Amino acid sequence: MKDIRNFTIIAHIDHGKSTLADRMIETTHTVEKRKMKDQVLDSMDLERERGITIKMQPVSMEFEGHLLNLIDTPGHIDFSYEVSRALKAVEGSVLLVDATQGVQAQTMSVLEMARGFGHTIIPVVNKVDSPAARVEEVKEEVAKLLECSKEDILETSGKTGVGVEALLQEVIKKIPGPAIEKSSNFKSLVFDFEYSNHQGMIVYIRVLGGSVKKRDDLMFKIAGKKFVANDVGVFRPDPQSVEELREGEIGYIVTGIKESGVASVGDTVVGEGDTSKPLSGYEKPSPVVWASIYPESQDDFDELKRALLKLELTDSSLTFEEESSGILGRGFRCGFLGMLHLEIASERLRREFNLTIVVTVPTITYEVLTKKGDIKNIYSPVSFPDDGDIDEVYEPWASVKLLLPSERLQDIMPLLFEHEGVVMETETFGDNRVAVVLEMPLRELMRRFFEKIKTASSGYASVSYKMLDNRKADVTRLDILVAEEPVPAFSRIVAKRSIQDEAESAVHRLHKILPRQQFAAKIQGKASGRILSSETLKALRKDVTGHLYGGDISRKKKLWEKQKKGKKRLAAGGKVNIPPDVFMKMIQ
Ligand code: GTP
Repeated sequence: MKDIRNFTIIAHIDHGKSTLADRMIETTHTVEKRKMKDQVLDSMDLERERGITIKMQPVSMEFEGHLLNLIDTPGHIDFSYEVSRALKAVEGSVLLVDATQGVQAQTMSVLEMARGFGHTIIPVVNKVDSPAARVEEVKEEVAKLLECSKEDILETSGKTGVGVEALLQEVIKKIPGPAIEKSSNFKSLVFDFEYSNHQGMIVYIRVLGGSVKKRDDLMFKIAGKKFVANDVGVFRPDPQSVEELREGEIGYIVTGIKESGVASVGDTVVGEGDTSKPLSGYEKPSPVVWASIYPESQDDFDELKRALLKLELTDSSLTFEEESSGILGRGFRCGFLGMLHLEIASERLRREFNLTIVVTVPTITYEVLTKKGDIKNIYSPVSFPDDGDIDEVYEPWASVKLLLPSERLQDIMPLLFEHEGVVMETETFGDNRVAVVLEMPLRELMRRFFEKIKTASSGYASVSYKMLDNRKADVTRLDILVAEEPVPAFSRIVAKRSIQDEAESAVHRLHKILPRQQFAAKIQGKASGRILSSETLKALRKDVTGHLYGGDISRKKKLWEKQKKGKKRLAAGGKVNIPPDVFMKMIQ
C-alpha cells in the first residue's frame, strides 16, 4: 500500500487553482496528454463557460511512490460550504497567492478556515511567469500573513509548469499522512454527492478506517439507510472502478439508491453492524438569500420538485420548501448562500433539467417582533406584517473585509456611507495597501455592494465577508399595485430611509415594461398605508372606426362610446394580465 497524502488547494478567486491542478495532473501522468484540456477538473459546462469552479472535484494522482489525493475547491465566497467540506476530508492545504495580485481578502478567510481544521499549510506564490508578477513583494506579504520565512514559500506557474514538481515533493514532505482509525470495520466520511439517472446516488467518501469492496453490505450511519455497494472507485479525475478502497483513501461508492433525501453530507457510510458513534457531521450553513422559484407552467410543478431534490444532492447548501402564490401558482421558497449561488442554481435548473422557471426578487430573513408579542422569522416580503402590527424588526449584519491600495481608499468611502457601512478597523498591509473591516446590514450588501466596490476601485479592491448577529432595523414593506391590486411577487422589504427612491424607481421600471391593457391602469408604490409613487399606463387604442369610409362623425362617436363603455367594464373587472417576461424583468 502506497503512502497517502490528502490535500486541497485554496485561494482567492482566479488565483489559478484549477490551472495549477491541470499541471499536477499532467506532471503525474494521471490523464494522457492527448486527452488533457484546460481546467480539466471543472467538468460542468457552466464552470467552463464562466471560468469559475462551482463544485469541488477530487482527483487521485500517483507521484514518486505516493498516492496524492487532491480536492480542487471553488474560490467564490458563495461556495465556501464546498470548501469547508473538502477541508474536513484532508490533512493539508496548498495556499495559493497570485503573484500579480498579492494577498486578497478571500486568501485570509480561506486560510483562517484551513487553520481551523488544523491543516498543514504550504504557501505558494503562483503565476510567476506573468510579466506583471511581483514575486518578491508578494512573498513578503505571504510571509507576514503566515508568520513564516520567505524561504518557505514556493514559486509556481500553472501556465508553464515551473515549480509544480517541487510543490508535489513539498506536499509529500510536509503534509502528514492520513490519521487512521484502528478498527477493522469500514467507516468513511461522506463529503459530497452526485446523482446519475442510471446509477442512482453516488457518494464521495474519505475512508476513515477499514476498507470497502464492491458488493459489501453498507449503511448510512445517521440516516440508517442500508444498501449494497454497486461499485467502488477513485477519481482520475473520471471515475475509475477499483478492487478496494482502503483506509486514508478518497474515492466513491455507487449506492444504487434512487429515492432522494435519504442521507446528507457529513453522514458516515459504514459496514453493516458497525457499532461506533456517529460523527458530528457538517453543520449545514444557514441560507443568506431567499428567492421563490416557480415553474412557468404549473404542469411542470412535479418536475421542478424532482429537479430540486436532485440538485440538492450535488449542492448540499441549497434549501427549499413548497409555497404557493396567487398569481404564480405552486412553487418553492429556496434558500441560497449568496447571489452567485442563486444565479448558478437557477441556471442549473434551466440547463440540467430543461425547466422554464420564474425566480422572484431575492430577500433575506428578518426577525419581526409583533405587537402581539410573537417573534416571526420572515423571509418572504409577502408575509412581512404591516407597520401597525410591528413592534421591532431585526436584520442580519455582515462583517466585510476589503483589501485595497491606500490611494484608492477615498474612491470607495462614499459607497461605504451609502450602504450604511460602519468602519471598525483599518490596518496597513504590505507596502501600500490597507485592510478595512466594516460592518453593514446584509440588506445593503445585497444591493450590488461588491460590484460597486470593484468598479469604484477600478478592480483593485478585493472583498470577503462573514455573517454576524441580527441587529435592529428600520425597514418596511413596499407593495407595488397594478390597477389598484397589489402584486405579491413585486413586494419587497426596503430601508425606510430610501423608501421614496425605491418606490419611484420600481413603479417607473414596471411602467416601462408592462404592455398596455384594454383599459388605463395605474401602477403605484405603496408603503405604510401611503401611496408614494404613481404612474398611469395608457389604454391600448384599437382603431374601432377604421373600417368606416368617409366622415360620418356621429357613427364614429357611437362606436367610440361603445369602446369606452367596454373599457370601463374591463377596468372594473380589473385584472391586468402580467406576462412572465415582465415578472422576470422586474426581478433583474
Ligand atoms: P476559481 O476556481 O474560479 O476560483 O478560479 P481558479 O483559482 O481555479 O483560477 P483558474 O485556474 O481558472 O485561472 C484564473 C485565470 O488565471 C485564467 O485566466 C488562467 O488562464 C490564468 N492563470 C492561471 N494560472 C496562471 C499562471 O500560472 N500564469 C498566468 N500568466 N496566468 C495564469
